[in-house]
Formats: sequence, C-alpha cells, structure tokens
Amino acid sequence: MDLIPAPTRLHEWDRHEWTFELTATSRIGADHGAEGVARWLRSELSAATGFTFDACAAQQATQSANSITLSFDERLRAERGREAYTITVDVYGARLAGGGRPGLFYAAQTLRQLLGPRAFRRAPIPGEPWKIQSVTIEDAPRFGWRGVLLDVSRHFLPKADVLRFVDQLAAHKLNVLHLHLTDDQGWRIEIERYPRLTEVGAWRERSMVGFRAGERRDDRPHGGYYTKDDLREIVAYAAKRHITVVPEIDLPGHSQAAIAAYPELGNTDVVDTAALGVWTDWGVNPNVLNVSERTLRFFEGVLEEVLEVFPSEFVHLGGDECPKDQWRASAAAQARIKELGLADEDGLQSWFIRHFDRWLAERGRRLIGWDEILEGGLAPGAAVSSWRGYAGGVAAAEAGHDVVMCPEQYVYLDHRQAAGEDEPIPVGYVRSLEDVYRFEPVPAGLGAEAAAHVLGAQANLWTEFMDDARDVDYRAFPRLAAFAEVVWSALPADPADRDFADFERRMAAHYPRLDALGVEYRRPEGPRPWQRRPGVLGRPVDGRPPAL
Ligand code: ACM
Repeated sequence: MDLIPAPTRLHEWDRHEWTFELTATSRIGADHGAEGVARWLRSELSAATGFTFDACAAQQATQSANSITLSFDERLRAERGREAYTITVDVYGARLAGGGRPGLFYAAQTLRQLLGPRAFRRAPIPGEPWKIQSVTIEDAPRFGWRGVLLDVSRHFLPKADVLRFVDQLAAHKLNVLHLHLTDDQGWRIEIERYPRLTEVGAWRERSMVGFRAGERRDDRPHGGYYTKDDLREIVAYAAKRHITVVPEIDLPGHSQAAIAAYPELGNTDVVDTAALGVWTDWGVNPNVLNVSERTLRFFEGVLEEVLEVFPSEFVHLGGDECPKDQWRASAAAQARIKELGLADEDGLQSWFIRHFDRWLAERGRRLIGWDEILEGGLAPGAAVSSWRGYAGGVAAAEAGHDVVMCPEQYVYLDHRQAAGEDEPIPVGYVRSLEDVYRFEPVPAGLGAEAAAHVLGAQANLWTEFMDDARDVDYRAFPRLAAFAEVVWSALPADPADRDFADFERRMAAHYPRLDALGVEYRRPEGPRPWQRRPGVLGRPVDGRPPAL
C-alpha cells in the first residue's frame, strides 16, 4: 500500500476476495461536525472518479454497501489526540474515524493514497475499478508543527500557485505554511493604511540571476503582491485542509523594500534612504529599520492589518541577519541605546523584538522569530525557529521556550539535491533525499523537559533561485515527502537506524501520485533538460558541506 508518510500501524488482511470497491452508488456519510471533511473528500473523489457520492449521516452510510463513513472516536481523541485516526477497509465499506476533524482529514488523505494515483487527478481517466484490499490502519503524528516556509518575497508566487502548493502540503499531512511575505527584494502583502508598501515595495526593476559572483542579471521587472482578500482566501483554503498559515513580516533587518516605500523607516542620519529602491541583489543587506517611536507605531499599524487577516496563534517577525553597522554609525540609534540603558546594538535589537512580543501577547498572539532573536536576550513569550543549526533551538528549549527546528544543514530545500553538474543553480551543500530522511528534529542529549518544547520542524524554501512554481516543485519534491515522514511518522530517533531503502521502495509508488497531482519533482536520475540552468552560478562554487 506504500503510504507516505508511513502510518504507525498497518495490517493488510489476507482475504483478497474481501475487497472494498468504490462505485457509482457509493455514499459518503459523516458524523455531525465532520461534514467539512466529507465535502473535501467528496469533491476530490468526485473529480477523480466521476461518481457523485450522495451525502448522508455516518449511520446511514454504514448500512449501504461500498460506502465511506467519517466519524469521531472519543477514545482515540483522549488517547492519541485530535490528529489521530483509524481506517478500516473491508467488504462492508471504508470506515474512517478521527480523534477530531484534523484526524479525519488525514484519514481521508490516506484513503486517497489507498485508491491509487488516479485518485489524485482532476477528472476520470480509464482504468481499473476503484478497489482497496481489506486493511486496518492506526496513525497519529509525531509532531504538532509540520511546517514548510515558502519565500514569496524573493520571487512572488501567484495566488493560484500558492493554493496548489497548499494542496501539495495537505497531501503529505503537513500542517503549517509559513509565508515569508516581506524582505529586501519585495513586500507582498497589501496594507491599506500604507499603500506605498505595495505600490513601491512590491516590485523591483530587475533580478540577479544566480549567485552574485556570477554577475548575471536580467532586465525584467519582477513583482506582485497579495491583496488582503487573496490572503483571506489562502488562509481559508488552507484551514479547510487543516493547515495554519503563519505570516512573516521580517524586522528589523531584511527591510529594504519597506524603506524604499517609506524612506523615513531607515537610518536617515546614516544613509540617503530616499535614494534606495527595492533591492535587486541577493544577500544580507545593510539597510535596516531605525528604532524610533514612529517606526514602532508604523509596524504596529502593519501588524494590526496582519492580525485581521491571519488568525494563527504565532506571528513570525523574522529578526534574522540584521547587520548592526548602521545602528553603530547612527547618532539616533546610539542615543536610543543610552536612553534605554542598553549594553549595545544587540540589546537594541532585543528591545525592538521584545516590544512586539509584548504587543502581540496583549492581543492574544505569540511571537516567533529566527534564532538571532536569542542574541541580547529572548523576549519572554517568544518561540524560536532554529535555522543556524540546532544550537539556537537547544538554548531556547533549555530556557523553556518553544522551538521549531529548521536547521539549514538539513532542511533548507533551496540547497542542491545532488552533487552533479546538472543541478540547476546549485546552492548550498548537497542535501539529498536521504539526508532529509535522516534529519532528526530532536537532537540527541536534549533532556525530556526541553525536548517537550520542540513543537516540530520546518523545511524552508528560499526562492532567490526559484522564479516560478515549476522551480519550487523541483526543489521541494521529492524531499518534502521525506520531510513529511520525519515529522509525521514514528521513525527511529537515531537517523542511522532509519530504513531509507524501504522509504525509497514506497517512493516508487508515490512518484505516480505526484505525477497525477502534476508536481514537477526531481527524478531520481536527475534533472530533465528543461530543469537545468546551464552556466548559472551557484554558491558555494565547490559545494562542499560544512561540518554539522
Ligand atoms: C534565514 O535563513 N536567514 C532565516
């Protein structure tokens, strides 16, 4: 049955004549409260099979042959949580039970995999009857945060592609989409009170092609942004698929697009911020926000609108890669350090982040930021995305803060997938499908109390070198399938004990599902000719990995 991610337990009954068959008279019945999941399943399976699937109560469906029932299981919920599910498929029907709605949704996703690759298509095509052999499955996720970051700032991904990406995540039981909405190279969220953020900040004149040392640029304006209604649609579409969208507004570094739109946000006593455009380079940018009261009020205004659109508990405020040179040179920043009695520029960044930690907490939300927010002291309620290896995450977890592990050495999916010359714009170090499969979110040696603060893990897709959905597909898959198994399945904690050969064997069944979904993944044999970018320089040029 070759499910991905692998379920906790699966038992195939050795009674081949006792198979379940989905037919034109099959019904989909649901308990009160499960109608939303039933609607999703009906819409997917109707498209793929051409059957209509009458709706009914779960009880009625159990009484009609070849039907699917969705019901809640209180005991499962008490024992294994809302995301847990069981499936029993036999000649009487396919019975899906969930600890809660998310569990039922994951059961429905598993059922779709059991029906074969054609179940991932949008219209029926000729094929065998829709049969499933008798099976029982018990399943529940290892982690509650099974995330993916999508950087829509470096390259804008149109709304339709984001919705498609959400479906890809849902098919792998991933449940957090971290949208990196702002950076030096583009501001992608409409903010009504500050229209220049998108009028000016949402586009750049040209882009760098490949790593900066290659000195290649195109002459094509790049841009785009999501209206608040677009984002409400993305949030609701994701919520139906039990995915939470966590917005990121990156502060106080990675802010040149905002400064280009509103020059008063920059360090005006150090640089002529009015002369800055949206950045057309990649890299770490010296033009960071100033720390005036006016800037605080400005971003409170931005965040008020962000909170209107995104109901997520966590709001990501970046905090990474904020060079302190301008603050060192700025009389205003230095006066601020003195006035606040801070030790140095790190203290200033920490104060800035703490301000928004408090501001979010007062509104019932929680701040999450990159591990640099540890420098100068972590804000009391903040959670950390540990990207520069495990160390930041370990320090934060040991201090009692929640952590999402996303070490760049393992789960930065912009990094090259193989050593070959043919990899398009080979960035970073070789991080193969197997490397991702052997990624362990909880480092060995972390005490139980600290380990309980590891909410889960996240794979990050930075898009400097991906300029459309096809490029995103290529870098994301198949590695996201391996990542999904790491965060969902009960794999051995010691990565060396993981059965990668078995995963690869199951992937042979999973690739046809991805094909049916229309995902342009990297094939095991390497990139297809049109997936290569001959001559475009990556980074580092020698591709050798650092010590972990
Ligand atoms: C990061 O990669 N700068 C979070």
